Amino acid sequence: MRIAVLSETDPNERRVAATPETVKKYAGLGGEVVVTRGAGTGAGVPDADFEAAGAKLAGSNAETVAGADVVLAIRRPDGLSGLKRGALVIASMDPYGRDAELKALAEAGASAFAMEFMPRITRAQVMDILSSQANLAGYRAVVDGAAEYGRAIPMMMTAAGTVPAAKIFIMGVGVAGLQAIATARRLGAVVTATDVRPATKEQVESLGAKFLAVEDEEFKQAQTAGGYAKEMSKEYQAKQAALTASHIAKQDIVVTTALIPGRPAPKLITAEMVRSMKPGSVIVDLAVERGGNCELAKANETVVSDNGVKIVGYVNVGARLPATASALFARNLYAFVETLVDKKEKKLAVNWDDELVKATLLTRDGAVVHPNFQPKG
Ligand code: NAI
Repeated sequence: MRIAVLSETDPNERRVAATPETVKKYAGLGGEVVVTRGAGTGAGVPDADFEAAGAKLAGSNAETVAGADVVLAIRRPDGLSGLKRGALVIASMDPYGRDAELKALAEAGASAFAMEFMPRITRAQVMDILSSQANLAGYRAVVDGAAEYGRAIPMMMTAAGTVPAAKIFIMGVGVAGLQAIATARRLGAVVTATDVRPATKEQVESLGAKFLAVEDEEFKQAQTAGGYAKEMSKEYQAKQAALTASHIAKQDIVVTTALIPGRPAPKLITAEMVRSMKPGSVIVDLAVERGGNCELAKANETVVSDNGVKIVGYVNVGARLPATASALFARNLYAFVETLVDKKEKKLAVNWDDELVKATLLTRDGAVVHPNFQPKG
């Protein structure tokens, strides 16, 4: 079983889909791992470390892929040539609106799996790239916010006088928001948080932060059976804005993480609210890729408002910690590959009826097979 680890082709992508740790684990499954030279450079893994873990090195992705049974990458590898028919290609596929790329993967003979479609069930938690990366994004958002903020975060009593603790407000308390709260608390901030799902209230309080939300009848119904938020009514949004507006005006750093599956990110911070904040305050908008929670946020830019508030809009924030993000992503991939292998025979044995396979498989036998990408009609 030959396992190929690609070098990412996007110049901004520093993560890598395997680490020396997972290379060794693949060997335990009977895998021979081939890594494209330089694949780990951005994540601080030199070729020599992959070699020391037992991987072979190849000069190019084309060479790495040749004869591979499994191809691992962080992002959807486009333009793969020389793929063995039926090879499993496993990555974060970002498949929506990419019909041509999916068709090309199918025609290249790939059985392509989208890791971001992994069901959020207990068995698959260890394979959940959305959670592993969102957790890091929440941490990094607070670190980025603290770096942009021209003052200290914790209260300090010094000979030169007392420095007050910074006030940090987290909007949206999913995986990223919970880690943002924990990080802000560790830095010594006074932390508040809001969400529309009632289940988050206890989680916020258990992390030592204060919960702030419009807790009306609609709030009590805001969580879907899948554990996600619903899009709230105009009336609720107005009440939420009224409640948060005066709070935001007093905050030093606001981290927003609010998302609704399949919808644009809810707008939680208007330009007027930004105007109410003190100069030097910072907003870090983790939802910027989906339109942003802050009206002024721009993807991959730090916007400075007229009144001197910085609005930080990095995309793919977990990947700003390429070494840690790679370590966790690589473990997510390994945990999934492990379920596709017959451990006694030490060879691939995909159960095409497994719910994890069915949920993530995009292409097989030359066709796009995932139900979300079938022609309508
Ligand atoms: P997400 O990334 O979809 O959204 C982030 C947060 O924004 C959510 O907490 C959501 O309620 C909140 N939000 C949406 N609209 C809002 C608004 N108008 N105002 C304020 N907040 C708003 O969420 P994520 O992080 O993917 O988590 C979703 C759920 O899935 C959670 O219940 C989480 O615990 C659960 N989960 C379960 C897993 C498992 O069982 N394997 C793994 C990971 C998450």
